[in-house]
Amino acid sequence: MYPGPTLEVSNGDTLEVKVTNKARYNVTIHWHGVRQIRTGWADGPEFVTQCPIRPGSSYTYRFTIQGQEGTLWWHAHSSWLRATVYGALIIRPKEGDSYPFKKPTRETPLLLGEWWDANPIDVVRQAQQTGGAPNISDAYTINGQPGDLYNCSSKDTTIVPINTGETNLLRVINSALNQELFFQVRQPQAHCQTTDVLITADQPPAKYYIAARAYASAQGAPFDNTTTTAILEYKSASCSLKCASVKPVMPNLPAFNDTATVTAFTTSFRSRGKVFVPTKIDHNLFFTLGLGLFNCPPGASNSTCQGPNGTRFTASMNNHSFVLPSNFSLLQAHQQGIPGVFTTDFPANPPLQFDYTGNVSRSLWQPVSGTRLYRLKYGETVQVVLQGTSIFTAENHPIHLHGYDFYIIAEGFGNFNPSTDTSKFNLVDPPLRNTAPVPVGGWTVIRFVADNPGVWLMHCHLDVHITWGLAMAFLVENGVGELQSIEHPPEDLPVC
Ligand code: C2O
Repeated sequence: MYPGPTLEVSNGDTLEVKVTNKARYNVTIHWHGVRQIRTGWADGPEFVTQCPIRPGSSYTYRFTIQGQEGTLWWHAHSSWLRATVYGALIIRPKEGDSYPFKKPTRETPLLLGEWWDANPIDVVRQAQQTGGAPNISDAYTINGQPGDLYNCSSKDTTIVPINTGETNLLRVINSALNQELFFQVRQPQAHCQTTDVLITADQPPAKYYIAARAYASAQGAPFDNTTTTAILEYKSASCSLKCASVKPVMPNLPAFNDTATVTAFTTSFRSRGKVFVPTKIDHNLFFTLGLGLFNCPPGASNSTCQGPNGTRFTASMNNHSFVLPSNFSLLQAHQQGIPGVFTTDFPANPPLQFDYTGNVSRSLWQPVSGTRLYRLKYGETVQVVLQGTSIFTAENHPIHLHGYDFYIIAEGFGNFNPSTDTSKFNLVDPPLRNTAPVPVGGWTVIRFVADNPGVWLMHCHLDVHITWGLAMAFLVENGVGELQSIEHPPEDLPVC
């Protein structure tokens, strides 16, 4: 199936998902946003918490949903296989608990994705082996369909039904591999992870376009292969007579680089009332996020250096370009005390301070490669300032942390200034998320409590950036006693 099956569960449920690899490639599955409390073995990132499931073999992911409700998703976390291997994970309240809003009449998962007229493995090879930028996909999709603007799917376009007066809960998931997308049902919204939207049918009965777009050159630019559509269709009688012939109105999506609109949207998020944000901070971390270029050594093969002027692209956090191990998973190495797989000297601050969002020499930005983790004790509180940089080019980075939800307490532009920007911190009702948007030329601050032992990847969710090294991992030590310690590895855990 494309997208894969929707899993519908309730808070408190224990899931057992047996994954059998019938493909020709190694694969793992990640349950994006699931806290995996003490069950890091089920988290899924390849070589971080497990070795890959090899063709012909199986692995059963076992985990319990603890205190989470809403829309999450699952996806392959091996190379770029999530290009086509993903689906929705819907968590409803426990029996007897209600939604924190009036129960909607309908619910519709909307998975935004990409489609290549090529084997995704070849797409990956092109990007991973040449050192250049990835090819963009041939089409974008909503629930697997590019939409009625393409001949191939004019009959199969995703239809979202609604009746006048009803409310529909749209569970919007951006599973696109390498782009943030603007998403709109005639009013603009931008997003880069999963977002639940309540839409009430209070407009004249008609058909309305739902659209998502990656690269509009200007606001409202004409349709191109980075646009995908679905249709919100009123089902009332008056509509079915009229609607058939009425052409829906195309949303006026913002230009791809309209960071102001994105930031205005993401900074409007709030929790539904006062929440407990840690105020005493044990680890005050400052991580720069950068794209850059590695100089290829003289005589290096041209085929691996197809970046500008014979370079290859790289990406880093605090000047460290993350490299995954290949013989053990990090979690296995940590738990079994296997030496030489990683070090725990990931720096708390960038090695050099400079004007991160200014135009500075790229000599300030020659990253080193390695597998460095940052160590936390159980229960410690952490603040991370995620600072975007513009060394080579500036891009938004949706930064995802495994094993945790965190509060996004502030977002801003320019270089983060600890003496003035702390006044912008929202310590009252900030949103709880698992992915933080870091704007181009700006910064985002997150806080969490390290109450989940294990090894947890933090990375840019654009797959090409993780390939280039925009990642690091936290090692959270066991606390006291069994309930604060990671569980024993399952017997069928794949070995490398
Ligand atoms: Cu949605 Cu590390 O992934």
